[in-house]
Amino acid sequence: MNKIIRNGTIVTASETYQADILIKNGKIDTIGTALKDEGAEVIDAKGCYVFPGGVDPHTHLEMPFGGTVSKDDFETGTIAAAFGGTTSVIDFCLTEKGKPLSDAVKTWHAKSKDKSVIDYSFHLMISEINDKVLNELPEIIKNEGITSFKVFMAYKNVFQSDDETLYRTLLAAKDLGALVMVHAENGDVIEYLTKDALSKGQTEPIYHALTRPPEVEGEATGRAAQLTGLANSQLYVVHVSCKEAADKIAEARKKGYDVHGETCPQYLVLDQTYLEKPDFEGAKYVWSPPLREKWNQDALWNALRTGELQTIGSDQCSFDFRGQKDLGRDDFTKIPNGGPMIEDRFSILFSEGVLKGRISLNQFVDVTSTRSAKLFGIFPKKGTIAVGSDADIVIFNPEIKRTISASTHHMAVDYNAFEGMEVTGEPVSVLVRGEYIIHNKQFVGTPGSGRYMKRAKYGQLSKATDKTITIQ
Ligand code: URP
Ligand code: ZN
Ligand code: ZN
Repeated sequence: MNKIIRNGTIVTASETYQADILIKNGKIDTIGTALKDEGAEVIDAKGCYVFPGGVDPHTHLEMPFGGTVSKDDFETGTIAAAFGGTTSVIDFCLTEKGKPLSDAVKTWHAKSKDKSVIDYSFHLMISEINDKVLNELPEIIKNEGITSFKVFMAYKNVFQSDDETLYRTLLAAKDLGALVMVHAENGDVIEYLTKDALSKGQTEPIYHALTRPPEVEGEATGRAAQLTGLANSQLYVVHVSCKEAADKIAEARKKGYDVHGETCPQYLVLDQTYLEKPDFEGAKYVWSPPLREKWNQDALWNALRTGELQTIGSDQCSFDFRGQKDLGRDDFTKIPNGGPMIEDRFSILFSEGVLKGRISLNQFVDVTSTRSAKLFGIFPKKGTIAVGSDADIVIFNPEIKRTISASTHHMAVDYNAFEGMEVTGEPVSVLVRGEYIIHNKQFVGTPGSGRYMKRAKYGQLSKATDKTITIQ
């Protein structure tokens, strides 16, 4: 049924204004004042902001990692995302050396099909570069619309690639029109530091942070940025956690390099002291890169405000405290890295960012939605409120206060890293292509209704049509 949203304040990355939105066939048909109902269902957004649905560029749903599998899958994870105001996610598809890239993509389609309640796409991990991989990449781009490649500079002997692989991926991406993403930490130095710590009996969660100091992130970020300049290619640095790394991105951008950076709510709000919580509670806060000394938060907020960092990812990679995180009770290197973040990304940025005057309302939309849509080839289909765009819309009440808690969240895990934190502002209703997924704070979606998004090449606008997935 057609819908019309009345009385709300529309906010995009560049404008804030009052108007009605008429939605037809899942798309924004008309934006204007005093629009006629034309028999459409009326949504009263009085007192609310009307935001484009959030685009989360960084998730790991049901991902094998650290001797276990991340707990939230494409169903629980995307339901939680929808509650939090996110209507598109781009998940990391892991590949295996020596196997066709298409095998990995099939595996990810099988995980997500019939499960996702919001629209989704995949980034493709590149773990090796050889003729087979180089020959396959154009097909992956053409058939799957996967236009972003991920290279890990850390996790030695697991995911880590060498500099030749990174450099050749950057060259290939330039030719093919893809964006290279890096996890930027120096994995070799981390390996040395962790072995050294363990040999001294330093096994508690805090040593996770102390063996991955900011210098190893700054160094890897600077290295990746320099290689991008040399290759004349394009780079996106995921989960920037500290000033050292943010400064390297700013430096590269000043030189004219096409380098972008993402940070995450955990680095803006939590700090290294959380890893010192007693009774192994610190394990709940084990991310890579690790949480940093608190003063880094100002540097990250400042970088978001000035545009030196451009996006907010959740880096959703959730593990239960009991049964998963506690694999590392006697050895911090065995604690699965990552945390539950997909649900609260939007609210935390609004509450801690906009309401505390650190970023503007329009910057909030830009960093949580529009910029990722642009960088990853789904704009203007996603990431904005404009005629012709998909009607992915969040009706957001900026007054509602709530306390974040595992007892009320919708993620599948047994803890929330922000337990007890009060946030102001909450999505009340969320539409994906014009259909309610969340209606008055109740989930009304259907697993499998999310569509796979083929994405445009880097720097191009999205014209691609949604793909119907069939799995043999
Ligand atoms: O600790 C993290 N960030 N876990 C997820 C995997 C990754 O490195 O992004
Ligand atoms: Zn990472
Ligand atoms: Zn990640």
